[in-house]
Amino acid sequence: MRIVVLVSGTGSNLQAVIDAVAAGDLDVEIAAVGADRPGTYGVERSAAAGIPTFVVDFKEYANRSDWNTALTQAVAAYDPDVVVSSGFMRIVSAGFIDAFGGKYLNTHPALLPAFPGAHGVRDAMAYGVKVTGCTVHWADAGVDTGPIIAQEAVSIEDSDTEETLHERIKVVERRLLVSTLASLAAAS
Ligand code: GAR
Repeated sequence: MRIVVLVSGTGSNLQAVIDAVAAGDLDVEIAAVGADRPGTYGVERSAAAGIPTFVVDFKEYANRSDWNTALTQAVAAYDPDVVVSSGFMRIVSAGFIDAFGGKYLNTHPALLPAFPGAHGVRDAMAYGVKVTGCTVHWADAGVDTGPIIAQEAVSIEDSDTEETLHERIKVVERRLLVSTLASLAAAS
C-alpha cells in the first residue's frame, strides 16, 4: 500500500509512521510527504529519512481552487493508494478526494463529531468535558467530517494545559494511526 502523507507542522504523528515502517512493523510505502507551506519540520524530518517531499504553498496561488488543482497533481504524481492528512491544516476539495478514490485519511485530536477544527484540544478544555480523545476517519470535504474508523478516549486532568493534554492525546493518536494503516494495508 503506497501512501502520501500531508503535513502542516511538526509531523510527530508522521514520525510514528516512519518509525513503524523502519522497524518492519508497518507494511506500507511512504511514497512522499507534502506540505501546504515551506519550512515545516514534517518535511524536514521526511527528507532526513530519505522520503521524497514536496510543497504546494497555499500562499502562492490566486485562489483555493487553483491550489487544490496543484495539490491534486502533486499528490497524484506519487500514485498513492491512500492519502493521509497528518496535521494537515487545510480543507481540500471534493475533487481532490475523488481523485484518490475517497481514500483520504485524517486524524483529529478530539472525539469527533465533537470539537472539529483547528483547535480540537483547546475547544474540549474550554467546554469543560472530562473525557476527550482522538479520531482516525475517512475525511470528506468538510471540517473533520466523514466516516469514523477508530477512536480512543483520553481523560482530562485538572492540572492539564492545552500542551500537556495534546501531548497525551498524540501518544494515543500515533498508535491509532499506525494500527489503522496496518489494518488497511493488511486488507489491501
Ligand atoms: C495532531 O494532533 C492532529 O490530530 C492535529 O494536528 C496535530 C498534528 O501534530 N490535526 C488537527 O487538528 C486537524 N483538525 P503533528 O504535526 O505533531 O503530527
